[in-house]
Amino acid sequence: MSIAKPLPHDAAKLHVTGAARYVDDIPTSRDCLHLAFGLAPIAKGRITAMNLDAVKRSPGVVAVLTADDLPFANDVSPSIHDEPLLSDGTVHYPGQPVFLVAATSHRAARVAARKGDVTYAEEEALLTVDQALMADSRFEDGPRIYEKGDAAAAIGAAPHVIDGKFDLGGQEHFYLEGQAALAFPQEGGDVLVHSSTQHPTEIQHKVAEAIGAPMHAVRVETRRMGGGFGGKESQGNALAVSCAIIATLTGRPAKMRYDRDDDMTVTGKRHPFKISYRAGFDDDGKLLGVDFLHLVNCGWAQDLSLPVADRAMLHADNAYLIPAIRIESHRLKTNLQSFTAYRGFGGPQGVVGIERVMDHIAHDLGLDPIELRRRNYYAAPDQAGADNTTPYGQKVEDFELHEMTAQLLDSSDYAARKAEIADWNAGQDRFARGIGFSPVKFGISFTLTHLNQAGALVHVYQDGSVHLNHGGTEMGQGLFQKVAQVAASRFGIPLEKVKITATDTAKVPNTSATAASSGSDLNGMAVKAACDTIRDRMADHLAQRYQTEPAKVRFEDGNVHIGDEVISFDEAASLAYQGRISLSATGFYKTPKLEWDRINGQGRPFFYFAYGAAITEVVVDRLTGENRILRADILHDAGASLNPALDIGQVEGAYVQGAGWLTTEELVWDGKGALRTHAPSTYKIPACSDRPDVFNVALYDGQNREDTIYRSKAVGEPPFMLGISAWLAQSNAVSSFGDAFPAMDAPGTAEEVWRAIRRVRDGV
Ligand code: MTE
Ligand code: MOS
Repeated sequence: MSIAKPLPHDAAKLHVTGAARYVDDIPTSRDCLHLAFGLAPIAKGRITAMNLDAVKRSPGVVAVLTADDLPFANDVSPSIHDEPLLSDGTVHYPGQPVFLVAATSHRAARVAARKGDVTYAEEEALLTVDQALMADSRFEDGPRIYEKGDAAAAIGAAPHVIDGKFDLGGQEHFYLEGQAALAFPQEGGDVLVHSSTQHPTEIQHKVAEAIGAPMHAVRVETRRMGGGFGGKESQGNALAVSCAIIATLTGRPAKMRYDRDDDMTVTGKRHPFKISYRAGFDDDGKLLGVDFLHLVNCGWAQDLSLPVADRAMLHADNAYLIPAIRIESHRLKTNLQSFTAYRGFGGPQGVVGIERVMDHIAHDLGLDPIELRRRNYYAAPDQAGADNTTPYGQKVEDFELHEMTAQLLDSSDYAARKAEIADWNAGQDRFARGIGFSPVKFGISFTLTHLNQAGALVHVYQDGSVHLNHGGTEMGQGLFQKVAQVAASRFGIPLEKVKITATDTAKVPNTSATAASSGSDLNGMAVKAACDTIRDRMADHLAQRYQTEPAKVRFEDGNVHIGDEVISFDEAASLAYQGRISLSATGFYKTPKLEWDRINGQGRPFFYFAYGAAITEVVVDRLTGENRILRADILHDAGASLNPALDIGQVEGAYVQGAGWLTTEELVWDGKGALRTHAPSTYKIPACSDRPDVFNVALYDGQNREDTIYRSKAVGEPPFMLGISAWLAQSNAVSSFGDAFPAMDAPGTAEEVWRAIRRVRDGV
């Protein structure tokens, strides 16, 4: 069996030798054109004059397009047609594409794109959520509210009440491979597009609209991305559409890739939030009522902001059974980049809110923060009679965190270390160590129910080799390997016999984005269905031929057992071919049990939950605010893991990325809305040296209670939220310098930690 084996990523050797092919590595003919955008420098206003003569005269330039020159739809929005590819005369954020240059080299296009002579009438821009709220600048008519019970009454009657608020920064995706696309013109106006995208069908759809053709005229292929992290669900549209338009207009291949600074300036990022809370609780720290206000900075276009903000609300409870809760979410429209999907899709912002509340209560009651959390957890499946419904009416049937927390407390030696840290802190005044704990319960499924479907296409060739294709995309997470393991195990053949092929809209149509962590759940099941169809046909044929029943045909160890006979899988394929049996099949899967009303916030949006827990220890310097992570202990639930090596890789990467979001990664926009942190020189992602010195990561030994592919669980996003423990640990360290619960924003950069220490010491 190839299932549950810790196999390396299928392209690991290609990755490390540099042989893996990305969009920019695909060979093109010498007449290939290279594209670049001319960008608006202002946050808001109108274009009053545009002279592009110097751009057109610039060496190597072949074509220059403005909105007026576009043949069909000027729209690259994935949602409500509010995102022109090129400015239609109004400007909505600094970095908005205004004109498009096609030139004979990447450099020639970029040089020319700077030569535009464009005059703007500037208007007052909205940059912060407070400004947008004042101006009532928002998506949707008013705030969305999800409620369970009467939170105001519960808080009003509670013996203890806390309140607070904090800013939660956004996050740049910083995929290693930037956004990129390449289009080849085909006969009759058709086009073939290679795109670094998590969503080939969306690229196909938007390209078809832009060139005025049906979707069948456009084929999109994606072999791999050098990282996506949600940033390639919708943000690749502009590049692919530009390439397709230039390719069809000129008859030449066209390629576009953003330079890193342009990538950071033009594309959307994780949504920044401002979160306010009020919580009522009893003497034991049991929550009675919680009220959250989410102010969500969505940027200039709607993009995926509504489902992102919904998911933040759906994770405002995280792991806790809250008798009465109200969550009010404002989706605010500002003149910044259009914030978009990013690992966790709003979930992390929601979870940070309630985890902050937990630490605040523990601090004020003088209770251990982990003990407090355990008192408020949802009930375990074997605890009878518990209510266990989430604020949105779904029952939690698989809650595993009681057992997981107990295991983690033990394996991390929590109690002894906590005591030792307190002693150490008391012994000097310069540094403080702190410890933070964060659990996660993450809902698996797209909240837009119809997206929970997938297709696959499998061929068995007459020599017994297998061609595998499905609608999922590979971005480093190891999806292709996991799905290949499924195919190999269905046929009982070695993994080497299965050829992993590029995602291709002509092979599997109408796919969903590879997102919401459901790549292996959905595509694994679709591939299983396709393989089983072929396998059953082969079994029927062989049973007939050997005069036995299909139930007596077994596929294992590269062989097929037919009653008492044994032949190789290759021979079986050849016999089936000669017997005129179809050895090609599609497979389809849709997630069961889902039912969701997003307007009223009621139903079952998730098939199941994935769980994890982390304990992080940090040290901070009182004089400089500098800080680092010393140790992290993680226990994560991947169900019956399809591939423990890949899953542990996902947990480690997600933790580091989550901790980076909340500690070092700071986006700074100036007073005019220009992004000042648009390169690695000013935007600090975690480096190898920032990895915790002690980093203990383990998978929880269990299996999914729901019937998923081999009882595994989705793992891509949930462990991102384990990084929250790093920010909580910083706050815990800061709190040792004073008596109050420290006011602190995220990320906890050196400056923010320093300010927070000053505040607790000075008692403000
Ligand atoms: N891991 C790597 N190496 N690169 C990525 O871009 N994206 C994450 C996660 N893990 C990502 C990653 C995100 S945002 C999601 S939704 C899932 O992978 C998508 O893949 P899956 O559904 O196959 O888990
Ligand atoms: Mo992941 S944010 O769902 O692409």
